Amino acid sequence: MGKTKQLYEGKAKKVYATENPEEVIVSYKDDATALDGLKKGTIAGKGAINNRMTNFLMQLLEKNGVPTHFVEELNDRETVVKKVSIVPLEVIIRNISAGSFAKRYGVEEGIVFTQPTIEFSYKNDDLHDPLINSYHALALNLATQEEIEKIKEMAFKINEVLKEYFLSLGVKLVDFKLEFGRLSDGTLVLADEISPDTCRFWDAKTGEKLDKDRFRRDMGGVEDAYREMMNRVFGK
Ligand code: TMP
Ligand code: ASP
Repeated sequence: MGKTKQLYEGKAKKVYATENPEEVIVSYKDDATALDGLKKGTIAGKGAINNRMTNFLMQLLEKNGVPTHFVEELNDRETVVKKVSIVPLEVIIRNISAGSFAKRYGVEEGIVFTQPTIEFSYKNDDLHDPLINSYHALALNLATQEEIEKIKEMAFKINEVLKEYFLSLGVKLVDFKLEFGRLSDGTLVLADEISPDTCRFWDAKTGEKLDKDRFRRDMGGVEDAYREMMNRVFGK
């Protein structure tokens, strides 16, 4: 399976067409942005780590009954995935207060919720991905009622699988962002990535941050944190 032409270049990935109209190839970059694209940099080795970790987690989710876009890992940075049209929602699940939640509601980071929360942002760079509720998503025709219900159900299921998996590696899954896509027949599948770029990971014993917050907050040790997560998943 080879790349034909580049279809899209995003902040962290490129997408290429293939000979199969139902499949595309994603290629993960080391580029990183934060703060709505204002902060730019590179995280050496990130592309390969995010590619391999995403593929591993998507296969774990498939085994647990969650349909995903994953098809086949080609090499360190490139993966064949099913072509989808992305539902323009960033779906965020939180188990512990952090980041924009702590800021928005004026609470400290680290409050463990009795139940996970879900929120949606409208994926729109010009508008800076505004927070919306499911009624707004319906009004804006971003998804149907059935799709929104399905997305909520899948997102909470994904949280249960991932939370337990990461805890077995000594990592607390604080929060994460998911994206969903529609196949050509309309089936909803998990798409995009699940990686230290899109999740907050805290070491269960020390609380050490093992994710992109080290880049967002200029904490140093960014590459080491990504490598540590890679080692926990793949063992070393
Ligand atoms: P937040 O606390 O900044 O809203 O982030 C919540 C989670 O979503 C966190 O794990 C990082 C992830 N995230 C993304 O993957 N992409 C984004 O553009 C944003 C804002 C957050
Ligand atoms: N990737 C997003 C940006 O470029 C946000 C983030 O992950 O912090 O702003």
